Amino acid sequence: MFIFDNNIVIDLITDRQGYADQYSDIALFCLKNNRGCLSSSQLHNLRFVFSRHYKQHLENYLAFEKQCIIVKTPSYIDFSSPLAAMDMDDYLIELSACCAEARVITLDKRFLAMSELTLHPDNFYALALKETTGIPFLDLKAVNAPYTSGFEQALDNVISSGWYIQGSEVKAFEQEFADYCGVEHCIGVANGLDALILIFRAYIEMGILKAGDEVIVPANTYIASILAITENNLTPVLLEPDAATYNLNPQQVEQAITPKTKAIFAVHLYGQLADMPALKAIAEKHNLLLLEDSAQAHGASLNDIKAGAWGDASGFSFYPGKNLGALGDAGAVTTNNEQLAQTIRALGNYGSHKKYENRYKGINSRLDEMQAAMLRVKLKYLDSDITRRQDIAKRYRREINNPLLQLPSVSDESMHVWHLFVVKCEHRDLLLNHLAEQNVQAIIHYPIPPHKQLAYAGLNALVLPITEHMHSCVLSIPIGPQLDDFEITSVIQAINSYGI
Ligand SMILES: Cc1ncc(COP(=O)(O)O)c(C=O)c1O
Repeated sequence: MFIFDNNIVIDLITDRQGYADQYSDIALFCLKNNRGCLSSSQLHNLRFVFSRHYKQHLENYLAFEKQCIIVKTPSYIDFSSPLAAMDMDDYLIELSACCAEARVITLDKRFLAMSELTLHPDNFYALALKETTGIPFLDLKAVNAPYTSGFEQALDNVISSGWYIQGSEVKAFEQEFADYCGVEHCIGVANGLDALILIFRAYIEMGILKAGDEVIVPANTYIASILAITENNLTPVLLEPDAATYNLNPQQVEQAITPKTKAIFAVHLYGQLADMPALKAIAEKHNLLLLEDSAQAHGASLNDIKAGAWGDASGFSFYPGKNLGALGDAGAVTTNNEQLAQTIRALGNYGSHKKYENRYKGINSRLDEMQAAMLRVKLKYLDSDITRRQDIAKRYRREINNPLLQLPSVSDESMHVWHLFVVKCEHRDLLLNHLAEQNVQAIIHYPIPPHKQLAYAGLNALVLPITEHMHSCVLSIPIGPQLDDFEITSVIQAINSYGI
């Protein structure tokens, strides 16, 4: 329980010292969790102050008072107590705090010095957080909560349509997502990995790629990018990323090109667009395909060109945790190339262009009606969700000031949609433990690089120091539109309080 001292109540309600912004998330947190209190001894004082000096705020105060739990003030008074001698009002509040096992949130320096039951608002976050279930890395229920009624309506429409595969929802989503990305074609598929596999497969069917061709790809990507290459018997050429942006370094790309190189595969890792103008220039100069793994970067843009519209083709994942996440697996390919679009559509539908006629040995990888309907509900809010992510990232970058951590660097604000906020820390385990103690969950993306995985035993001997170091020290902290300001401040304070 937390009792608000008079000074905090007045500051909050009148914005007396510009404090409303600073402390309103504390009040909100307490009231939301039924833990905000006033001592009955405060009521007459507060009502008097508001009626006499802040009449215009009286109504707001009374509304606030109504939401607080009123804690009784005991009648036993120890007149020998130093606090009673100094300030009887503070003493009575402390007595109430004692009864309710509460802490008094106050800015009064003398009160803070004389009572162990007081708490400065700056120290509130860590304490309050410890008493809650904490901040999970990603609370998908909270992410999807605002869409519940939209989902229910969309689901009802699908159920009553009687058409569950390749119907009007998929068609509409494909058009809406193509428009969103600024491309001509979007092909819905079953998941992000299939989107990437099918891009390479289609180029093979079209005679543009063949087994053994080299594909340049960042070594620190999620393994799905590499799996898509090897699944098609192409050769991944793993390149060290730029240590600051975690993305492909165009200079290194140019140096890695051999006569066998046929494609540059840019991964917009963590939500930040790779240096696409430079990569596009290199691809054009050397007549290479430029492909994108946009699984983490829906909406990231540069010069008004979005992820998914820079390359010859791009794969998206709508895995539930992604910035645009379905309620199950889902994915898509975007492209301006009509022949490629048709080939991918056929490959994902048993290789069939026409019902019961099979041009290719295809697979079954289709976006289903239900997931498309869910995605249509959420797509409308993708831009506002991204803005919220960018605002949170701005706060993290401005307010996290722990010298033991390195914050992510950004070349252009619109290029980053902050799927993940990844910091670097040399003693990552210590930081992880510290955050766990503070009830903040953090996650590693990713602990083992693809070339050190058992699945790629043939690549295990590769030495890639930038990539390996990155995997030993990166840590993702919570970010997403579901987090409120109180939670953001708590994460910042938890990180800033870390020390070895
Ligand atoms: C960079 C990257 N590529 C590809 C994928 C694969 O997407 P999915 O999980 O939908 O198969 C993911 C998602 O986990 C990813 O992060």
